[in-house]
Amino acid sequence: MKIAIGNDHAAVELKNEIKTYLEQKGHQVTNFGTDTSDSVNYPEYGEKVGLAVVSGEYDCGILICGTGVGISIAANKVNGVRAAVCSEPTTARLVKEHNNANIIAFGARIVGTEVAKSIVDAYLEAEFQGGRHQERIDMFSEIESRQN
Ligand code: RB5
Repeated sequence: MKIAIGNDHAAVELKNEIKTYLEQKGHQVTNFGTDTSDSVNYPEYGEKVGLAVVSGEYDCGILICGTGVGISIAANKVNGVRAAVCSEPTTARLVKEHNNANIIAFGARIVGTEVAKSIVDAYLEAEFQGGRHQERIDMFSEIESRQN
């Protein structure tokens, strides 16, 4: 898969670990995140990955900040993004199966490396179930169009 990854200063190390982990599994991972511990503003990276994913160039995105929350809120401001914070693998599976999340987010200050790997594995192995879930996802687009 082609995966866009992004992060702020709180998550440089975990980003690198997850990027390497995914590349070893054969995925193509493009880094949109920061690579130093210098303080940055997470909305910038949420937006970058959000735009990259909705462009269609990537199959999905992964966002990491301290909690996963701020960066996912930013990504969700991009029309067409469905970014979901996941702190364990069951949520990661369900956000794909039910919500067709196109970005997952987690917090480097919340989950360790092994849990983070289990989150990305669960998400990437899951499949959207469609059916009644598609109707609800269509409602997301309707909400967006009412705002624009
Ligand atoms: C940065 O200190 C921190 O606020 C950020 O990484 C994130 O946790 C925000 O939601």
